[in-house]
Amino acid sequence: MKFNPIEFIEKKRDGGCHTKEEIQALVDSVMNSRLPDYQLAAWLMAVYFNGLDEEETMYLTKALANSGETIIYADNEKIIDKHSTGGVGDKTTLILIPLVAACGATISKLSGPGLGYTGGTVDKLESIPNMKIHLSEVQFRRQVENIGCAVSGHSAKLAPAEKKFYKLRDVTGTVPSIPLITSSIISKKLAGGAFGYLFDVKFGSGAFMRKESDARLLAESLVSISKKLGKKCIAVITNMEQPLGEFVGNSAEVYESIMVLSGSGPSDTRELCVTLGAYMLNMADICSTVEEGLLLCENALDNGSALAKFAELIKAQGGDPLIVFNPQSIFPSTKLVYEIKSDKKGYLSKLDAKLIGEGLRALGGGRQKQEDKIDSAVAIRLLAKVGSPIKNNETILKLYYNTQEQIDRAMPYLNICWNVSDRAEKNKLIIDYIK
Ligand code: URA
Repeated sequence: MKFNPIEFIEKKRDGGCHTKEEIQALVDSVMNSRLPDYQLAAWLMAVYFNGLDEEETMYLTKALANSGETIIYADNEKIIDKHSTGGVGDKTTLILIPLVAACGATISKLSGPGLGYTGGTVDKLESIPNMKIHLSEVQFRRQVENIGCAVSGHSAKLAPAEKKFYKLRDVTGTVPSIPLITSSIISKKLAGGAFGYLFDVKFGSGAFMRKESDARLLAESLVSISKKLGKKCIAVITNMEQPLGEFVGNSAEVYESIMVLSGSGPSDTRELCVTLGAYMLNMADICSTVEEGLLLCENALDNGSALAKFAELIKAQGGDPLIVFNPQSIFPSTKLVYEIKSDKKGYLSKLDAKLIGEGLRALGGGRQKQEDKIDSAVAIRLLAKVGSPIKNNETILKLYYNTQEQIDRAMPYLNICWNVSDRAEKNKLIIDYIK
């Protein structure tokens, strides 16, 4: 098909609909470097204002997914995958991979580094000494077959056109478009080969979607396009006004994950992992009801099988499996600790996830620039959550850091991230399910 980029852009500018062939031609011209960035940027902005319908979104998703290598598993392997839209203190992937694998499901997870003030699974796992996070496709597949789970950084060879689109969206104000986000997320899942997806779509101050209504629109779009593509799928809408769990920071989140996998750890992290795990087991036909899945997950956390699977995963990827039996070895071992205390009694009414994420980044636990090195030991410990009663002089946050410069940079965020009032309701964590 002869592709005329100007007519293509004008069609979307004027509210028209593209054909499958036109969208394929767009992605082909991006991959052949025939389309200048300014024309792709103009089209992205037209999509930002005029949207894509479901058919167009599906065509774009498929074309992006097929722009590079794809991993193919047999359908009867029932490989499942999960995706979180990102948050602060979100260590669910670290827990869910061994948890659902210990219950008999097979999970293949491609993950990314932290973006902005939100953490990334790759950075967290890299805090485990010697753990290899970038596996070749052969190693990845072999490990999935051998132990039922693997986690790896995204390969540049999977959905390469999506990376080109995302890079340009990031600098042209066109990231927050539901059809573009949908095609970006699902194209990477599609190239990864799983048969069922669980999406954890977060909203709130620490999430990419600030409003619950926007998270709902994204969840509905993710589910609808996944189903059109023949995938099993569920989206869970969860609250990210405050960070998840007790720790924010790379090695500290591995520590908290080990605690949850050992049957203890904070109740919110456990609740979310058990719920997401139950839906994943049900999707993989390991159990016929979600209630059964909840029991399987509770048992795997309490009887040590999920923890043993985490040790197996770490060993398979070159890390030291003994850390799971000696979690203190991964507990933040910084030179300095500082406590932020309440100057009055009442109830914790605010624990702003974005400010805490920014605080961690300022401590050195996240990147300001892509090439920055992360200090994986720095951490923020949340000693109270929204709704907790607070005494005068009680510690709210404990900061683990190494240099005065780190704390000087972080305090402007961390001094204002919390509030104590006369009254405060606890936040509901799991809001809804979209099937
Ligand atoms: N995460 C993605 O993978 N893609 C987007 O477009 C936004 C968030």
